[in-house]
Amino acid sequence: MTKGRLGVGFVGSGFVAKFHLEAWRGVRDADVLGVYSPNTAHAEATAARARELRVGEARAFKSIEEMVAAPEIDCLWLCGPNHQRLQNMQSICDALASGKGKLIGIACEKPLARNTAEARQMVELVERSGLLHGYLEDQMFAPAVTRGKEIMWKRAAALTGRPYLARAAEEHSGPHSPWFWQGELQGGGVLNDMMCHSVEVARFMLTKPGAPRASIRPLKVSAQIASLKWSRPEYSRILQTNMGKEVDYQKTPAEDFARATINYVDEDENPLIVEVTTSWSYVGAGLRLSLEVLGPEYSLTMNSLDSGLKLFLSRNVKGSAGEDLVEKQNAEQGLMPVLGNEAAEYGYESQNRYFVQCFLDGRQPSENFHAGLEVTELLMTAYMSAEQERTIPFKPEGLDTFVPLVAQGKWNAR
Ligand SMILES: NC(=O)c1ccc[n+]([C@@H]2O[C@H](COP(=O)([O-])OP(=O)(O)OC[C@H]3O[C@@H](n4cnc5c(N)ncnc54)[C@H](O)[C@@H]3O)[C@@H](O)[C@H]2O)c1
Repeated sequence: MTKGRLGVGFVGSGFVAKFHLEAWRGVRDADVLGVYSPNTAHAEATAARARELRVGEARAFKSIEEMVAAPEIDCLWLCGPNHQRLQNMQSICDALASGKGKLIGIACEKPLARNTAEARQMVELVERSGLLHGYLEDQMFAPAVTRGKEIMWKRAAALTGRPYLARAAEEHSGPHSPWFWQGELQGGGVLNDMMCHSVEVARFMLTKPGAPRASIRPLKVSAQIASLKWSRPEYSRILQTNMGKEVDYQKTPAEDFARATINYVDEDENPLIVEVTTSWSYVGAGLRLSLEVLGPEYSLTMNSLDSGLKLFLSRNVKGSAGEDLVEKQNAEQGLMPVLGNEAAEYGYESQNRYFVQCFLDGRQPSENFHAGLEVTELLMTAYMSAEQERTIPFKPEGLDTFVPLVAQGKWNAR
């Protein structure tokens, strides 16, 4: 890399792309210069927003190939829907193979893919392309998480022993686009959509700073899934009204609750436990990320809704519904939590800064497509466990071809 700045192109211009843009104000050494979406108006609106935020002179591209070929684009952030992930990656690789462009890196949103077979193809494609690659798990970069991990390991674990239990949860009242609710398109229900965060952040907290991810090893997974809310007749009607006729939770529900326990061991075969839970059936102020880590003489807790800033709105404040206070906001009155800089506090800012620095330095990020594949393998093992109602040793046979019943439209929620 000869120049000191990167030009970044976004593939996809939806909800998560907007978070990335907000976060980009805190990212140095890179400008957002391109946006591709099959919906040109969306791509243009996102490019205009990038210019408005002064994070780059972005323009909309008509195709992925055109964006790859543009001389100002050095790396891509893959932010399209899960069911387009492989196709998006294939288009990028085909463009590169035909001699277009000079990309150096690619960063991919969670989940890496819908199942293990697809995740493996993502890894194969990226390795064949020779690109540097990153897996975008924002929560691992959240300042509360990285600072908490640093202090916990330096001060407490160093004197009294490593942490042995991590509990992580992500919960909200349900996603914003129809495809998230459709098992086949998304790859599953809330387990695939959100447990990917909790699994990775819990593993991260239990891993000694600087140690490789293989320093702790998953042994077995036990999990459960359920549809607690959205397949109830009254709620499936509301869901269909809001999301369209393809989202029919009377016929093809997906889970809105999932929990899993993953047993790990450290290098000395000491047991470590990860407990994760996630739901689209949580009605609170908005998105709630929580984390607890326990060690022999210490514990750490974090809850994103325990924000330092709270706003009280009386019953006379009758504003329209929005997400201006907190992601997946459920109310516009009462005592509401507000995050001062949401994109930064969720980790998008530090995450993007990290991947930009890696790509500029020509360095392979440690959080990469292989990490995304391992997370997918753990999630698919969790689905296997839930379907078979038993604990499954990791890695189970048949993992490479396993597709959850939810993703096949064959899951019976009762
Ligand atoms: N890190 C996080 O916390 C987080 C949060 C939300 C979403 N995500 C992930 O980001 C991805 C996008 O989610 P979202 O919430 O932005 O979804 P969304 O439905 O809001 O937006 C999807 C975007 O993809 C575009 N798109 C549609 N077809 C496409 C195609 N063939 N190629 C490229 N783009 C296409 C759409 O036009 C839209 O702009 C998903 O994989 C999701 O899991 C991550």
